Amino acid sequence: MRVWRAAIYANILILEATLAAFMPTMVDSFGRKVTGLRIALTPRCNLKCIYCHHEGEVKPQREISGEMVVSVARAAADLGVRSLKFTGGEPLLRSDLADLVSRIPRGLDISLTTNGILLEKQAMRLADAGLDRVNVSLDSLRPDVYSAITGCREGDLERVLAGIDAANSAGLVPIKLNVVVLKMNEAEVPQLIEFAREHGLILQLIELLDLHGLGVSGDIEAIERGLQAKADHVRTREMHRRKKYFLDGAEVEVVRPMDNTEFCANCTRLRVTSDGKIKPCLLRSDNLIEIGTCDCERIKELLQEANMRREPYFGKVLTPAKSKGS
Ligand code: 5AD
Repeated sequence: MRVWRAAIYANILILEATLAAFMPTMVDSFGRKVTGLRIALTPRCNLKCIYCHHEGEVKPQREISGEMVVSVARAAADLGVRSLKFTGGEPLLRSDLADLVSRIPRGLDISLTTNGILLEKQAMRLADAGLDRVNVSLDSLRPDVYSAITGCREGDLERVLAGIDAANSAGLVPIKLNVVVLKMNEAEVPQLIEFAREHGLILQLIELLDLHGLGVSGDIEAIERGLQAKADHVRTREMHRRKKYFLDGAEVEVVRPMDNTEFCANCTRLRVTSDGKIKPCLLRSDNLIEIGTCDCERIKELLQEANMRREPYFGKVLTPAKSKGS
């Protein structure tokens, strides 16, 4: 029985690899594939996190139309993109979100990054529309610390917790819990690990990109050393060479763009800004491409142009590949 199962599994893997070989994939001048697209749906947000990088956007002029979101997603899927993440601002503030999700091509893995405040009411509707999973930003379980980081209204932390439960019930899993490691919350990491374990969440500990010179970064390196010492085992994800630690039933991923010279080398993303521009890199705003049309063929050309503008931002570990692919 086991042998049969292994044989079937091996055949599925071969089939997947064969199909993948025939799928078009965008490859940039550094040999990096583009498999993920992040679309910021709005610059609006119901929190004011002290560290927010606003997805690298500078003064968005207007909000991308639903029509354009769907067209870009379709074009990207045709070019071999396999996963789509909605971000913001806060994507749950878009009243047409469930409708958008329902119009995205089926083969894409669709997720969103949310602060979770409005998640309880929307989780089931979004799951029904075809959303696969959510990342919830929750930097602290302590009301005073959460409030100091996010400038939230009273009761918001409870709303986020209820949102996480609702997302679990709706099957928007695996849920990832995003924690930006700051001086204010670094001591809380063991409790956050415990919380993640109890609720079946994957904890993502994220290094602060200190774009505003706040000087409030937590010591993520020391935290990672602690995880290394305690982990039952460690895995390195292909995406950005992120390390994943497994401790006693908890999964903890460490995201360290600043100190990881391989981070950019393994970047597989393109972005779309909340005002409808293709953005080849989170940290640059001088190479954007205005979309301005919902014509799928034209958008494909623009995505390919953006792909050729992709360059690693950190660590000069890459040199342009000799042959360029698409
Ligand atoms: N540094 C690191 N991550 C950030 N995020 C936003 N701003 C920053 C920053 N300055 C990410 C976090 C957060 C999500 C909304 O965006 O993961 O949870």
